[in-house]
Amino acid sequence: MKTIFSGIQPSGIPTIGNYIGAMQQFIKLQDDYQCFFCVVDEHAITVPQDRLKLREQILQLAALYVAVGIDPKKAAIFIQSEVPAHAEAGWIVQCNTYVGELERMTQFKDKSQKNNTAGVSAALLTYPPLMVADIVLYNTDLVPVGEDQKQHLELTRDFVDRFNNRYAAKNQTILTKPEVHIPEQGARIMSLQEPTKKMSKSDTNQKNFISMMDTPDSIRKKIKSAVTDSSGIIEYDVAEKPGISNLLTIYSAFSGQNIDELVAQYQGAGYGQFKADLAEAIVNVIEPIQQRQAELLESGELDLILDEGAEQARRVANKTLQKMKNAVGLGRKPRK
Ligand code: TYM
Repeated sequence: MKTIFSGIQPSGIPTIGNYIGAMQQFIKLQDDYQCFFCVVDEHAITVPQDRLKLREQILQLAALYVAVGIDPKKAAIFIQSEVPAHAEAGWIVQCNTYVGELERMTQFKDKSQKNNTAGVSAALLTYPPLMVADIVLYNTDLVPVGEDQKQHLELTRDFVDRFNNRYAAKNQTILTKPEVHIPEQGARIMSLQEPTKKMSKSDTNQKNFISMMDTPDSIRKKIKSAVTDSSGIIEYDVAEKPGISNLLTIYSAFSGQNIDELVAQYQGAGYGQFKADLAEAIVNVIEPIQQRQAELLESGELDLILDEGAEQARRVANKTLQKMKNAVGLGRKPRK
């Protein structure tokens, strides 16, 4: 069976962008792959976090993975910092990555500009090597992500080639080169107020996103005030009508209907009716997820899932880490 790895940062409450771009893919793919789904808490501290809030968000995200439908019997669900191989492998990756490559990452450019008043942490630059480590440790074949992670996946593929070329015997490989898996639709859900900007969980304006923990009322309000245009015609045209096109994509992801069907269904209807129905479609999906998430957070079930997930992850990750250490010559020669 081929292997999947993916992760989400607990740097805020996940949005419907994370749900559509990432989690919906995880659920679809889990039957056909050996899966590792990670709460990447070490990534979250590349920018300042409140420690108590971070702890809370880590568990909330883990519970959300299960609540949306990831089956812990099929997939290992775990917390990155509970598998020390990630940080160790991250160091080896850094030692084989160039500063120039990292400075070119668009996420680094964006985030370093946003956080420049408080100073930019070194880890904001070296974060992609940690992501590379996350992926290669599991001999990952496929990485389901949203579009914004594409560049990091290209870096991962380049790294694997370089590492294998440098350290593997001729015609052999040490690390597996992963493929990126980006959904055809919903790979880039946009902000509700500024539909030419990506929806982000760390946005300071709450009206820009719908979080997976928003109340039904708040969802209705946010959809109602989402920016559209003055034409009043419901059609899909990203360049000319980014607002309504984004809402159509969201509607399709939450209802299972395709965009053409929705456009036909709402021909001649106004934005008001469309938005009201869209809000209900989101609420119908999110409410049961929230109930299940709350149950998981109250019960001891989650701890068992995370213990088991970390155990499974450590077994695979430690083996690959040892191979990487051997390749570069760290430590002593392993005893037979
Ligand atoms: P993060 O936490 O920013 O986002 C988690 C996942 O959600 C996707 N996503 C979106 N998809 C559609 N529309 C949006 N507006 C949207 N916003 C986010 C992201 O593409 C991602 O798939 N570096 C990663 C986390 C990570 C990771 C990894 C992912 C760390 N190690 C290894 C894959 C493999 C990140 O910051 O994702």
